Amino acid sequence: MRIDEICARLTKATVFADVGCDHGLCTRYMFDRSLCERAYLTDVSKKCLEKAEALMKEEIASGRCIPVVTDGLDGVGEECDLVLIAGMGGEEIVSILSRRPLPKRFVLQPMKNSEKVRRFLVGAGARIEEDVTFRDGKIFYDLLTGWGEGGDEYTDYEFRYGRDNLKSSPAAFLEKLCAEREKLRRRLFHGGQMKAENRELLLGKLYETEMILDAIEGDL
Ligand SMILES: C[S@@+](CC[C@H](N)C(=O)[O-])C[C@H]1O[C@@H](n2cnc3c(N)ncnc32)[C@H](O)[C@@H]1O
Repeated sequence: MRIDEICARLTKATVFADVGCDHGLCTRYMFDRSLCERAYLTDVSKKCLEKAEALMKEEIASGRCIPVVTDGLDGVGEECDLVLIAGMGGEEIVSILSRRPLPKRFVLQPMKNSEKVRRFLVGAGARIEEDVTFRDGKIFYDLLTGWGEGGDEYTDYEFRYGRDNLKSSPAAFLEKLCAEREKLRRRLFHGGQMKAENRELLLGKLYETEMILDAIEGDL
């Protein structure tokens, strides 16, 4: 399950922030395992936040959990040493993170535009610990964990595909590439007419996908 994959990356913190918390299950996980002293639940939607508030009633009453209707971390008045942002687009994640200093530690699960998140993090001086694709049912998700400091270097391919995907080729990444290859083949060879420039673009993508698969399968 997607939430289990995310929670498995959550580590001990003094102040945890669950940004775009919605149901609040990740914060529940943190309190149930005594992984944090305090937590902020944030969501732009009051209605979504109410779900998390219902789940964290006791901790909110005791002041250990603070719900805030806000965009990202705006208005959260203290430093959060572990920040989770999951289930949002990569551009939204970058916008949220770029409005304050990077947190000591982060867990990010972008729904799209992961490359933009990687480029932002490395550009901002972060050190990326894990950068993988996992699968939940038919859907593939990217997951990034790391530290706000320490610096890192990425190649262009690593920015585009995820560093650990290229280094250790997890099964989900291979499956994702195979699924993409099939989709491209269907569109190119069974999809009917298309403009020459679109065909060129898709052929380029197919070539690159096959090249990466060949390189990975050669290493197995
Ligand atoms: C798909 S849900 C993900 C919920 C949970 N984080 C998860 O991964 O299962 C996205 C949530 O993020 C909230 N959201 C979207 N943009 C936001 C922003 N800029 N700041 C705070 N919350 C945001 C939405 O209201 C929604 O509750």
